[in-house]
Amino acid sequence: MNKILITGAAGQIGVELTQVLRDKYGAKNVVPTSYNKPAYGKFIQHETCLSLDVRDASALAQLVADAQCDTIFHLASLLSAVAEAKPLEAWDINVNGLLNILEVARTYHCAVFFPSSIGAFGPETPYFNTPQDAIQRPKSMYGITKVSGELLCDYYYHHYGVDTRGLRYPGLISSTALPGGGTTDYAVDIFYAAVKNRHYDCFLRADTQLDMMYMPDAIAAAIQLMETKAATLKHRNAFNVAAMSFTPAQLAAEIQRHLPDFTISYQIDPIRQAIADSWPRHLDDGAARAEWGWQAHYDLAATVADMLKHITLNEQKINVKVPIKSFS
Ligand code: SER
Repeated sequence: MNKILITGAAGQIGVELTQVLRDKYGAKNVVPTSYNKPAYGKFIQHETCLSLDVRDASALAQLVADAQCDTIFHLASLLSAVAEAKPLEAWDINVNGLLNILEVARTYHCAVFFPSSIGAFGPETPYFNTPQDAIQRPKSMYGITKVSGELLCDYYYHHYGVDTRGLRYPGLISSTALPGGGTTDYAVDIFYAAVKNRHYDCFLRADTQLDMMYMPDAIAAAIQLMETKAATLKHRNAFNVAAMSFTPAQLAAEIQRHLPDFTISYQIDPIRQAIADSWPRHLDDGAARAEWGWQAHYDLAATVADMLKHITLNEQKINVKVPIKSFS
């Protein structure tokens, strides 16, 4: 990786990944791009973030050619709940946008990182120890776009030799990026509500168990996979990665160990509950461990302690708006 283009740099993963890649590879070698103006200006300076719509193939090609990029972290995507509300737009951004990335990568010989998700599985998939190679019949539009993306990445590798690689992420928890319309976002919202109001009204049922990961592990996984020698990879795309698996009730109990007066109530959003109910509870990440040495460092206790520390500090420094619980 010498010159890195990031799409979706202002999004959930992009904000932190951009900073880590800049620290590691030098700011001038990282080109962050975003459709929306970076929303995290209060948290992170993205003064050099360029405007890019991944659906605009010629603008994308021009940028990659001008900057002489050799690697693309393609993060631009709609998350699950938004995709369910806007299925055609989700297909356009998540699938047609990826196709543009793969075409430009083929033309300019770039490696591509593509984040898939636990959402690429469906109710016919085994819920526990979900195998690396398992049946994939997702019921959400988000999941359909992610399976399509996995297959497109495989296709471009096998047919054109494009160095595509990717992970199936669990729900991601970030102390920097605010939630952006995902089903697992309750596990971020809850920290802001806990610090500010000592109460959270959760949109998933108390017993909804899902795979989760703290953002530093998610960022490390992406970079480690992209830095791995190609010869050691058998799967390449869509590696299952896992770190911890918990329910809203278990997360609330862990927060209460730090904030004993914190309380939680439940007001179920049927759309997000249905999505969550169709997703695996815990992925088997044996292939990632065996092929490129993947290992998570943050469990539930470490994540909660670190999140509360950072969110409390942020609250003291700036007047952060509490994320909106639901959307229409
Ligand atoms: N966190 C994502 C979502 O909830 C799933 O990958 O949409």
